[in-house]
Amino acid sequence: MKIAIITGGSRGIGQSAAQECARGGMGVILTYNSHKPGADEVIAAIKAEGGQAVALALDVGDADSFPAFVAEVKRLLSTYWGRDTFDCLVNNAGFGMFNLMETVTTGQFDALMNVHLKGPFFLTQALLPLMVDGGVILNVTSASVRVATAGVAPYAALKSGLETLTRYQAKEFGDRRIRANAISPGPIRTNLADAALDKNPEFAALLASQTALGRIGEAEDVGRVIAMLASDDGAWINAQTIEVAGGYMI
Ligand SMILES: NC(=O)c1ccc[n+]([C@@H]2O[C@H](COP(=O)([O-])OP(=O)(O)OC[C@H]3O[C@@H](n4cnc5c(N)ncnc54)[C@H](OP(=O)(O)O)[C@@H]3O)[C@@H](O)[C@H]2O)c1
Repeated sequence: MKIAIITGGSRGIGQSAAQECARGGMGVILTYNSHKPGADEVIAAIKAEGGQAVALALDVGDADSFPAFVAEVKRLLSTYWGRDTFDCLVNNAGFGMFNLMETVTTGQFDALMNVHLKGPFFLTQALLPLMVDGGVILNVTSASVRVATAGVAPYAALKSGLETLTRYQAKEFGDRRIRANAISPGPIRTNLADAALDKNPEFAALLASQTALGRIGEAEDVGRVIAMLASDDGAWINAQTIEVAGGYMI
């Protein structure tokens, strides 16, 4: 059984990715930050369908905690799957905020940077020794890299950095046949940015009207693509950014 580690699997896109990967026959180690009950529900839902999943706490913004996290991953791999390696890392965890550039603080910028760029960089570095040759790295970025939306400049710039990092991962890890791709969602109805789309139906309707398929996305729209790219069906896709956005702002 292949094993995927999915950060931010306690809700939203990460939850859907965890469930879809499990449906595809993968074992899942998902992480949560503040929402352990969510992680417990995802584990229960996966087990109810006959899948295998466990959860670990992880603050992706705290790179100093990664050695201890890796030790826990090793323990779970051995305990649950009798393995010392895993197959796929999904760097999905993230948060959003709306703030115009004139008022962004260094603290806000650093918090975004730690989670959206420094975290995926060093978490990948820390887990790489445990990843099988021929493994998969998937980084969740954002269509805000392509479409400038006022109020999310630092977030979008950092996601842009993560897309660049993805290509470098594909380059540097290619000799181990590890492929790396970025998944770039458009507006998706999740808890992101304090559930901005649910709390602002007019904003959600505007975004839907700017999308060729006429609606905003749901977590499952992205989770299915992550699971496909994690599987052998995505074996020849490498160093790409795949926008999953229903034709947003085309
Ligand atoms: N929704 C959209 O429109 C959209 C569009 C483009 C890109 N994205 C990206 O998609 C990814 C998933 O977001 P989502 O929309 O599914 O949002 P969400 O529903 O708010 O879920 C975010 C997940 O990330 C976790 N997380 C947040 N901060 C963390 C930290 N410091 N350390 C570890 N985990 C942390 C959360 O854990 P807890 O809940 O346990 O705290 C949760 O599991 C993010 O990278 C986001 O930037 C989303």
